[in-house]
Amino acid sequence: MKNQKRSRNQTAQNLLIAVFGAAGLMASCSPKSAVKGTKVMTAEYLSQGKVIFDNSCGKCHDLPNPTDHSAQNWVGIMNSMAPKAKLNDKQHQMVYDYIVSVK
Ligand code: HEC
Repeated sequence: MKNQKRSRNQTAQNLLIAVFGAAGLMASCSPKSAVKGTKVMTAEYLSQGKVIFDNSCGKCHDLPNPTDHSAQNWVGIMNSMAPKAKLNDKQHQMVYDYIVSVK
C-alpha cells in the first residue's frame, strides 16, 4: 500500500513537471513572433523591416528607439502599434524582427 501511494505521488509530480515544462517552453518564445517553420533572417530581410519601420512608425510620434524597450515589451507594443500603422502580419513580423535585431 505504501509503495502504491508513493508511485501515485510520483506520477502526479511528473505530470506537474510536464505541464510546467511545456509552459516554460511556450513562454520562452514570444507570442506574435513565434516563428512558423524556419525563417532565414538575412540582412536584406532585416533592412526591409527597417524600411517599413522608418516609413510607418514615425507618423504619429517620433520614430521610436528600438533599444528603449526589451524584446518582450516590443511584442506587446507591436501588437498595439501594427494595427495603427496598418501593417499586415508579415510586415508586423518584419518590423518586430528588425527592432529586436538592433540591440
Ligand atoms: C496611427 C498613429 C500611430 C502609428 C502609425 C504608430 N503609433 Fe506608436 N503610438 C501611437 C499612440 C497614440 C501612442 C501612445 C498611446 C499608446 O500607447 O497607445 C503610441 C505609442 C507608442 C510607443 C510607446 C509605448 C510605450 O508603452 O511606451 C511606442 C514604442 C510606439 N508607439 C511604437 C510604434 C511603432 C514601432 C510603430 C510602427 C509599427 C508605431 N508606433 C506606429 C500612435 C501610433
